[in-house]
Amino acid sequence: MSMKVQVICYSRSGGTKKVADRIAREVGAEVQRPDDVSSLDGDLVFLGSGLYAGSAHDSVKALLERNDLSGKTIAPFSTHAAIPYEFDDVRSAVEKAGGKYLDGFLCYGQFLFIINRGRPNESDLEDAARFARRTLESVKVRG
Ligand SMILES: Cc1cc2nc3c(=O)[nH]c(=O)nc-3n(C[C@H](O)[C@H](O)[C@H](O)COP(=O)(O)O)c2cc1C
Repeated sequence: MSMKVQVICYSRSGGTKKVADRIAREVGAEVQRPDDVSSLDGDLVFLGSGLYAGSAHDSVKALLERNDLSGKTIAPFSTHAAIPYEFDDVRSAVEKAGGKYLDGFLCYGQFLFIINRGRPNESDLEDAARFARRTLESVKVRG
């Protein structure tokens, strides 16, 4: 049986959406918005959000809370302005819902026109593509 891969992303100003689009291209999926996903049907889910007040967007956490994640692997991604972020909020929501959490991808995103201008840039997006390939391979190998 082939593995289904989903890419889901909330992006307020479009930075994280660029990362989502690159990951989606890499894995051959469409990007969905959390509020449009009634039930998660991916075996592997790339789940993205900008970092807002130290946390992923509520719609991302709500998605994890309304789904049984057993048998599913979640790999998060985010863009942020400055504050270090280790996806602790996403990780705990994934584990609480019975899912398997994989380490995420983080890069800078533009904020207020001047901070991190132009980020994520092409080099960030190449890193995102590598993250997508590596994650896909690791899930395939481990089954
Ligand atoms: C309401 C709001 C809150 C934010 N809070 C943080 C924060 O706590 N830490 C941080 O590093 N960046 C913060 N940022 C900056 C965003 O994480 C950054 O601009 C990110 O790239 C936005 O992603 P998006 O373009 O996908 O919405 C915040 C931005 C907004 C609009």
